[in-house]
Amino acid sequence: MTGGKKPLVWAHRGASGEAPENTLAAFALAAEQGADGVELDVQMTKDGELVICHDETIDRTANAKGWIRDYTFEELRKLDFSYGKLQYEGEKIPTLEEVLDLLEPTGLTVNIELKNGICFYPGMEEKVVELVEQKGWKERVIFSSFNHYSVRKLAGLAPWSKRGVLYMDGPVDVPSYAKRLGAAAVHPALYNLQYPGFLEECEKEGLDINVWTVDEREYLKACMDMGIHAVITNYPKKAKAFFEELAQQ
Ligand code: G3P
Ligand code: MG
Repeated sequence: MTGGKKPLVWAHRGASGEAPENTLAAFALAAEQGADGVELDVQMTKDGELVICHDETIDRTANAKGWIRDYTFEELRKLDFSYGKLQYEGEKIPTLEEVLDLLEPTGLTVNIELKNGICFYPGMEEKVVELVEQKGWKERVIFSSFNHYSVRKLAGLAPWSKRGVLYMDGPVDVPSYAKRLGAAAVHPALYNLQYPGFLEECEKEGLDINVWTVDEREYLKACMDMGIHAVITNYPKKAKAFFEELAQQ
C-alpha cells in the first residue's frame, strides 16, 4: 500500500451532505461533483422491489412511518423522501435499477451495500445479482454488507463480483477473515484504521481498504498518507478538491 496516491472518492448515500440521502438527486449531484463512485443501501419491499434507503424503516427519511418490508413499492412511491430539504420536496424513494440507469453514462462505480443484517430479505442477493448481470454492470459494482453470511453467499452466486467485508467496532484478524470469505476489500469504519498492523495485514492479504465515513480534512489526509483505496464521504466535492490540493504540494 503506497501512501501519497489520491484515494478514490465514493459518495456516501450519494452527495448526502447536500441532497437528501439515497435519492436520485443525491446520486446525480455526486456525479456532477466529480465523485468516482457512490455508495448506497438496498432494502426490499413487501412485493420484492429493491429500493434504496438506509434504515429498515422510513420513519427518519420520509413523511410516513413503518417498515419497508411492510410496504408495497407502489405505496412507498407515493411518499416524500426529501427529508426536510425544501428544495428537494417531492423526491421519491429510488429503485436500484433507477440508480444504475441514472449513472450508466457516467462511468461511476457503485458500492451496493445490502442492508440485510436486521431484516434478512429472503432472495435479496439473487435479485441484486440478477439485476447487475442483466444491466451489464458486473465490472462497475462492489457489493458489501454487515451481514457476512450474505457476503459469502454472494461469492457463490456471483464469483465474478468484487465484495467488501463491512464492519465496525473491534473484531480481530479482519484481513485474514475477509480473505477467507473471498472478499476483495475490507470496508472498515474510520476508527478501525488505528489498530496496529492493520494496514500491513491488508497488504499481505492483497485487500483494498475502502473506509467510511470520511468528511474531515484531517482524516482525508490520513487516508491519503496510508494509501487507502477509497474514501466513502458525505461531501465528495470537498474531498476531491482537497485530495487535488494535497497532490499539488
Ligand atoms: O457502506 C459504508 C457505510 O454506509 C456503512 O454504514 O450505516 O452508513 O450504511 P451505514
Ligand atoms: Mg451504507
